[in-house]
Amino acid sequence: MGFIPINKPILGEEEKKAVLDVVSSGMLVNASYEGGEQVRAFEGKVRNLLGVKHVVAVNSGTAALHTALMAMGVKPGDEVVVPSFTFLATANVVLACGAKPVFVDIKDDYNMDPAAFRKAVTKKTKAVIPVHVYGYPADMDEIREVASAKGVRVVEDAAESLGATYKGTQTGKLSDAGCFSLYATKVITSGEGGAISTDDDELADLLRLVRNHGQVHGYDSRHLGFNYRLPEICAALASVQMDKLDGFLRARERNARRLMELLSGVKEAEFTQDAGDRTHVFYLYTLRLRKNRDKIAKALKEAGVGAGAYWPTPVHKTPLYVKLGYAKKSLPKTEDAAKKVLSLPVYPGLSPDDLQKVGDSFLEAARRYL
Ligand SMILES: Cc1ncc(COP(=O)(O)O)c(C=O)c1O
Repeated sequence: MGFIPINKPILGEEEKKAVLDVVSSGMLVNASYEGGEQVRAFEGKVRNLLGVKHVVAVNSGTAALHTALMAMGVKPGDEVVVPSFTFLATANVVLACGAKPVFVDIKDDYNMDPAAFRKAVTKKTKAVIPVHVYGYPADMDEIREVASAKGVRVVEDAAESLGATYKGTQTGKLSDAGCFSLYATKVITSGEGGAISTDDDELADLLRLVRNHGQVHGYDSRHLGFNYRLPEICAALASVQMDKLDGFLRARERNARRLMELLSGVKEAEFTQDAGDRTHVFYLYTLRLRKNRDKIAKALKEAGVGAGAYWPTPVHKTPLYVKLGYAKKSLPKTEDAAKKVLSLPVYPGLSPDDLQKVGDSFLEAARRYL
């Protein structure tokens, strides 16, 4: 049995055919306000899944977040509340708008603490970006309640959570704008890519403008924008992957339940993302280890199992943010999680034997180090 990576895209003949069809058509990009045929087909599938009025495809999850903030008019002097326990993009897009990220702490489920958000709001707060960490929805009712009382826009960082639900509603439909990633390891992929969902007609128009240098007809820029268009090849790939999403999610769930079974005896490794009112898409299956996380990760790798810490350094402790003066911010739960989390392979392509190997290797490492 070969090395089992932490994550792996599942691509088949349908994806190959979809990509080759675009190559044969010669229509690689349609630089219009509406986007090309493949882009529109992909957007329609995401719209149906989420039950939203608009989906705007872009060329990365980062572009999705940046586009959403630009469309909301986030600018220098504004503050945007974000977690530090996230991928860099969530905070970097705030800097890209010339605004100030205000980091807040998380709960034991790794998602933004709504009480910390409430405390962080000032007159300058323009938006908040809760992240559905590892594909597990954040406390959106509480976050929305604070945001609406304070006049703050909500942008979901749903990069990891396509298909997850909160009280029966899809992530991405729980805020002013939901931002998804189609990066190579995500729940579905187009290599690089992203999408933004919204029910707001005016915002949707601005999102389309930002995606395409502010143009409607060409050379008539009316809003600051960029080239954030999704290429047709990527859209065709993403469209096929959307058809497979249900199957992918069922396999992820089945694999996660099997890992829970295999590891249920290890009390020092806790799974903390479980509430009856939301569904997890298990983009990552993550345990909180009492100690020796890095030794256990190393032992797993030596046994042929790719385990990863997401994220070993909170954003406010990365060199850029240290230089910008954020390092002294006290976020105890964030720092504790960064030291203790470890994700195990849970992707749809794992066989029962693979899962057994992940489980056995973890039990062996736990015996030595936990
Ligand atoms: C939580 C989170 N936010 C944002 C992003 C950015 O997405 P992308 O890599 O597609 O730019 C990612 C994924 O990389 C992510 O995991």
